[in-house]
Amino acid sequence: MKPILDGTVEVHSYLGPDDERTLADDVLDGLTRPLKELPPKHLYDARGSELFDAICELPEYYQTRTERLILATHADEIAARTGAVELVELGSGSATKTRVLLDAMARAGTLARYVPVDVSATTVHAVAELFTDEYPGLAVYGVVGDFERHLGHLPAPAGPRLVPFLGGTIGNFPPGSRRRFLRSLRTTLRSGGFLLLGTDLVKDPNRIEAAYNDSAGITAQFNLNVLHVLNRELGATFDVDAFEHVAFYDRRRQWIEMRVRATAPQHVRVEALDLDLDFANREEMRTEISAKFTPKRLRADLAAAGLELVETFTDAEELFAVSLARVA
Ligand code: AVJ
Repeated sequence: MKPILDGTVEVHSYLGPDDERTLADDVLDGLTRPLKELPPKHLYDARGSELFDAICELPEYYQTRTERLILATHADEIAARTGAVELVELGSGSATKTRVLLDAMARAGTLARYVPVDVSATTVHAVAELFTDEYPGLAVYGVVGDFERHLGHLPAPAGPRLVPFLGGTIGNFPPGSRRRFLRSLRTTLRSGGFLLLGTDLVKDPNRIEAAYNDSAGITAQFNLNVLHVLNRELGATFDVDAFEHVAFYDRRRQWIEMRVRATAPQHVRVEALDLDLDFANREEMRTEISAKFTPKRLRADLAAAGLELVETFTDAEELFAVSLARVA
């Protein structure tokens, strides 16, 4: 059945009760390991999201502004090369980037539908309203769900589909799950679809490390904020002032690691889990990995997921890349 593209808005929710892989599960799982570890998604409570927005404006953090420039420069070409009629947005937090692409698709005269996927129903409804106002006649098919789990529920494509995954977020996945996730993206592309992938590039380690050790100390606050999240959400007793921010580039693995490090031995109680934790002096907990890519690595990861690189757009300094790929 051909979808009706007449400015209709529909939203479907796929979040179920046992879909909630919670902070509590992640803490129990990650903080009882020999190298303590938490998935980076817990960095983004309201305060963390504010701090991340501030990071994006830092002089040292070249990623956001570089990607923005690449997108602005090549959006029309991307619209033309893909002929995309719909845009699937995975995690609908980034209205500005999306608008650049939707504008280009509108200019190309192909734009028909916007498919936001987000765990927050409020966010899905908000972007639906925002974009139907801004793009008269735009159809919206909203999906309330987790883009790591619910991509099977996307509607059949209305035509060539563009799926941006920007910001370098793909770098947060360790190599194995990165390929698994790229494979699930390939499935969502169906036939004739395109992935638009933003990746930070391998470069002088000093330049990379500076981006995660900014002189204003915003990244440190962003990182340490996760301990406030644990205290608030799980009744944990982290003495946040007794931890310091650590970020270093692992040259062999070609990724940044962010960690928090205890500056003295600490005993921490996690009330909600009835869990007692000990941190030795200088013991670290990993809070994020952020992979950096070479063109070769990029091509190999895409190929392993059944995707073929069509074109890589970059900036004059080759700091960041936005790559267009299609089903191989
Ligand atoms: C949003 C995951 C791309 O890895 O650079 C910024 C998050 N961490 N500063 C990144 C982040 C520390 C960011 N990503």
